[in-house]
Amino acid sequence: MTSNYIDHCKISIYLSIYLSIYLSICLSIYLLNIFSLVVTPIDGSENEACISLASKNRTIGNAAKSQIITNFKNTVHGFKKFHGRAFDDQFVQGEKSKLPYSLHKLDNGSTGIKVRYLNEDKVFTIEQMTAMLLTKLKETSEHALKKPVVDCVISVPSFFTDVERRSLMDATQIAGLNCLRLINDTTAVALAYGIYKQDLPNPEEKPRNVVFVDIGHSSYQVSVASFNKGKLKVLATAFDPYLGGRNFDEMLVEYFCEDFKNRFKLNVKDNPRALLRLYQECEKLKKLMSANSSDLPLNIECFMNDIDVHGKMNRLQFEEMCAHLLMRVEAPLKSAMEQSSKDEIYAIEVVGGATRIPATKERISKFFGKDISTTLNADEAVARGCALQCAILSPAFKVREFSITDAVPFPITLRWNSPTDESVGECEVYSKNHAAPFSKAITFHKKEPFDLEAFYSSPHELPYPDSRIGRFTIQNVMPQPDGGSSKVKVKVRVNMHGIFSVSSASLIEKQKGEAEDVQMDTEPAVQNEGRPEEQVGDADWQNDGEKQDQGASSSKAKSKVKSVDLPIWANTTRQLDRDVLNNFVEYEKKMIIQDKLEKERNDAKNAVEEYVYDLRDKLCGIYERYVTEDESNRLTIMLEDTENWLYEEGEDQEKEIYQDKLSELKKFGEPIEERYREHEGRPRAFDELGKKIQLFMKAVDVYKQKDERYQHLSAEDMGVVEKSVREALGWMNAKMNAQSKLTVAQDPAVKVAEIIQKIQELEDVCNPILNRPKPRTEEPIEEGDQNNGAHNGPAAQQGADSKGNQQTKPPSGEMEVD
Ligand SMILES: *[C@@H]1O[C@H](CO)[C@@H](O)[C@H](O)[C@H]1NC(C)=O
Ligand SMILES: *[C@@H]1O[C@H](CO)[C@@H](O)[C@H](O)[C@H]1NC(C)=O
Ligand SMILES: *[C@@H]1O[C@H](CO)[C@@H](O)[C@H](O)[C@H]1NC(C)=O
Ligand SMILES: *[C@@H]1O[C@H](CO)[C@@H](O)[C@H](O)[C@H]1NC(C)=O
Ligand SMILES: *[C@@H]1O[C@H](CO)[C@@H](O)[C@H](O)[C@H]1NC(C)=O
Repeated sequence: MTSNYIDHCKISIYLSIYLSIYLSICLSIYLLNIFSLVVTPIDGSENEACISLASKNRTIGNAAKSQIITNFKNTVHGFKKFHGRAFDDQFVQGEKSKLPYSLHKLDNGSTGIKVRYLNEDKVFTIEQMTAMLLTKLKETSEHALKKPVVDCVISVPSFFTDVERRSLMDATQIAGLNCLRLINDTTAVALAYGIYKQDLPNPEEKPRNVVFVDIGHSSYQVSVASFNKGKLKVLATAFDPYLGGRNFDEMLVEYFCEDFKNRFKLNVKDNPRALLRLYQECEKLKKLMSANSSDLPLNIECFMNDIDVHGKMNRLQFEEMCAHLLMRVEAPLKSAMEQSSKDEIYAIEVVGGATRIPATKERISKFFGKDISTTLNADEAVARGCALQCAILSPAFKVREFSITDAVPFPITLRWNSPTDESVGECEVYSKNHAAPFSKAITFHKKEPFDLEAFYSSPHELPYPDSRIGRFTIQNVMPQPDGGSSKVKVKVRVNMHGIFSVSSASLIEKQKGEAEDVQMDTEPAVQNEGRPEEQVGDADWQNDGEKQDQGASSSKAKSKVKSVDLPIWANTTRQLDRDVLNNFVEYEKKMIIQDKLEKERNDAKNAVEEYVYDLRDKLCGIYERYVTEDESNRLTIMLEDTENWLYEEGEDQEKEIYQDKLSELKKFGEPIEERYREHEGRPRAFDELGKKIQLFMKAVDVYKQKDERYQHLSAEDMGVVEKSVREALGWMNAKMNAQSKLTVAQDPAVKVAEIIQKIQELEDVCNPILNRPKPRTEEPIEEGDQNNGAHNGPAAQQGADSKGNQQTKPPSGEMEVD
C-alpha cells in the first residue's frame, strides 16, 4: 500500500519582508511574487509527506520517497489521518494491516508509530511525525527565502474535528512554527479562486455561487461558497472522508495481485516490498489511463522470486472495476447542494489529483448537467490559498482584505450541570453551517461552580468515533449576598482554526440600588440561555472575543454592573499537556541537531573522497608537469590507501577523522596545485609589472625633456619616482633570473601575490606624484596654447585632472606616442 501513505499536509510559509517589498510596487505583481517565492517549497510537499528514519539521521520529503521500498519498516507516510485518533479507533485498526510500518498503542491509548531510529526502537507520536515534516518545510522555506520563517497557514480537510485540529496545532508547536490559521482545504481553494477575480459582484449585489470539488489522494470534499467583492462565505460543505485516488490504486493492486497469483503463482501480499512496488506501478498506470484509453502494459522486472511480471489494463475495464467507487461521487455533491439550497451555480471548480480520472469528472459534470471548470491548478490550489491566507493574516504588512466566513460542518451542543444541582440543561450553540469563526455569550444563573460539556450533536455524521469535545468547569461561582443565584456570563467560540473553546466566564454582580436588571434576575430558570449576543463582522473576526466584549458592555452601560472574571478549568480530550509538549519540542531540536551533525560528517567524508578522485585525475592531467616522478608515485600510493580506507575502517568515522585525513592529503596536494597555479599566473603578473615600470619610466623621460606636461612637479618629486622605478626593475630582474633556474616541478622563487604587491607599491609611490593637478592659475594660459600638439591639448589635461583617482592610467594619449 504505498500510495496510501503518500498523503499530504500542505503548508505555506511566507515571509513578510519579501511581500511588503512587492506590495509597495503593485498589487498584482505582489500576488505573482508570493506564489513564486512561497509556493515553491510547498509544491514539493504535495506528495512528499514521507519520513525515513535511520541509524544516524532522518530523511524527510522527496529524498525519503526513495526509501519507501528499501527501508520500508522505518519509512513512514500517510499518517495525517491518524491525528488525534486512539489506537483502538476502528479507522486506525483498518489501516494498520495495510501499513508497511508498525503502529503502537501509547500508554494513554493514542496511536504511535514504532520505528528503528539511532539503532534503538523508538515510538513517535503522530504529532511528532508531522512536526518532522513541518521542520523540513520550514528549512526548505528558510533556505529559499534566506530568512527565518515562523508564521504559517496549514490546510486541513474540512471534516477534521476538534481533536484532530488540536493535534495538528500541537505538531506546529513542536516544529517551532506559529500557525496563523488552520484553514479548511476547500476554503483555501475558494480563496485562491476568489482573490484573483476582478469581476465579482459588488457587496450589495447578488453573490456569485461557486461549487468547489476536491478529490485528493485519500479524501473527497465539496463546498459551496458565495462570493462578493472582497469576501467569500462558505454556505455548505459535504465530504466522503474515505474516498480518494488511493482507493482507485487499491483496486488496481487487488486486480494485479489476483492476476499474478493465477498466472505467475506469486503471493504478492506476503511480500511487503513487492506489494509496495506494485502500488507505485499501479499509481503510474492509473495516471497513464487518464490520458490514454487503449490497452496499457504494466511490467515489473525482478518482481518477486526473480520473476519478471507483466499485465495490462485499459480505461474501460478500470472504470468497470471501480464502478462502486464512482457511484460514491454523487452523494456529497447532492448533500452540499441541498444544504446550500442554491440553484444558481456560476461555476463548478474541480481540483485534486483524482479529478484527473476522466470518469470522476464525468460524474460531477453529469450531476450538475453542466461543464465543469478546471481553471485552478489541481495540485497547488490549496497551497496557494494557504499562502494567500498567510499573507492576509500576517500582522507584518497590509494586504487588500479578503474576508472569509466559513461554515461549521458539525453542529455543537453544550450541556451543563452542577454537582449538587440536579437540573441539567443543554442547547445547540452552533447549528450546522453556522458561520465561523464565531463567538457567543450565554448567561447562566448559578450559585456554585458548574460544568459545561461540549460535544458534537450528531455523532452519526461525524467521521470520528468520539463526539466529545471537552469539559469546561466554571470555577469560583458563589451565591449572591442575599442567597440568590449569581449571573454568570460565559463566552464560547469556534476560533479561526475551527477549534471550540469556552473562552471566558465572568460573574456579573449587580450593584446595590440598581433596578434595571430586575426582570432578568427574576427569571427563575437556571438555564437562562442567553441569546447569542454575538456578531462577527467580516472585519473583526480575528479577535472576535474582545470586540464583542466592548459591544456588550457598552450596550448595557446603564445597568452599572461589576464584572468579575472567573477561572475556567478545561479538560479537552487528547491534547498534549505542557510538559509533554516541551519534551517533544526539545527532542525535535535534538533530532535537528543530530541531522545536522550527520550531514556535516557525511560532507566531510565526501570531501575526502572527492579530493582523492580529483587529485588522482589531475596528477595524470594538468598537474603532471609539476610533480617529480618520486612525488607522483608517493602521492598515488597515498591516494590509493585513502580510497581503500574509505571503504574499510574509514567507512564510518567521526567528522574530525575525515577532516584530518583531508588536511593530510592536502599537505601534499596543495604545493603541487600551487606550483601549477603560480606557473599559470606568473607570466601575466610579470608582464603587468613590466608595463608599469615602462609607464613610469616614460614619465621620468618626459619630465627630463622639459615637456610642459610635468613642469609643475619638483625635481625632488621626480627623483622619488625614478628611484622607485629603478628599484622595482632591479627586483623584477632578480626574481626572473632566480625563477629561470628552477624547473616547473620545483616550488617557485617568487609568488604571483608578491608580484602583485610590488605593482601596488610602485603605484602607491608614483601615482600620487604624477597625478598631482597643475595649479589653477595656469588654466587661462593653457587655453591659448592649443596648437601645442593634439595629444597634449586641454582635453587630455582635463581627463587627467578630473580622473585623478584613476591612478593606474595616466592620460592615454601620452602612452600612444611610442
Ligand atoms: C543520512 O545519512 C546517510 C548516511 O549517513 C546519508 O547517506 C544521507 O544522505 C543522510 N540523509 C540526509 C537527509 O542527510
Ligand atoms: C496509448 O498507449 C498505446 C500503448 O502504449 C500507444 O501505442 C498509443 O500511442 C497511446 N496513445 C496516445 C494517444 O498516447
Ligand atoms: C472550516 O474552518 C473553520 C475555521 O475557520 C471552522 O470553524 C469551520 O468549522 C470549518 N468549516 C468547514 C465547513 O469545514
Ligand atoms: C478529562 O476528560 C477525559 C474524558 O472525558 C477523562 O477520561 C479524564 O479523566 C478527564 N481528566 C481529568 C483530569 O479529569
Ligand atoms: C498520549 O501521550 C502521547 C505522548 O505522551 C501524546 O502524544 C498524546 O497526545 C497523548 N494522548 C492523549 C489522549 O492524551
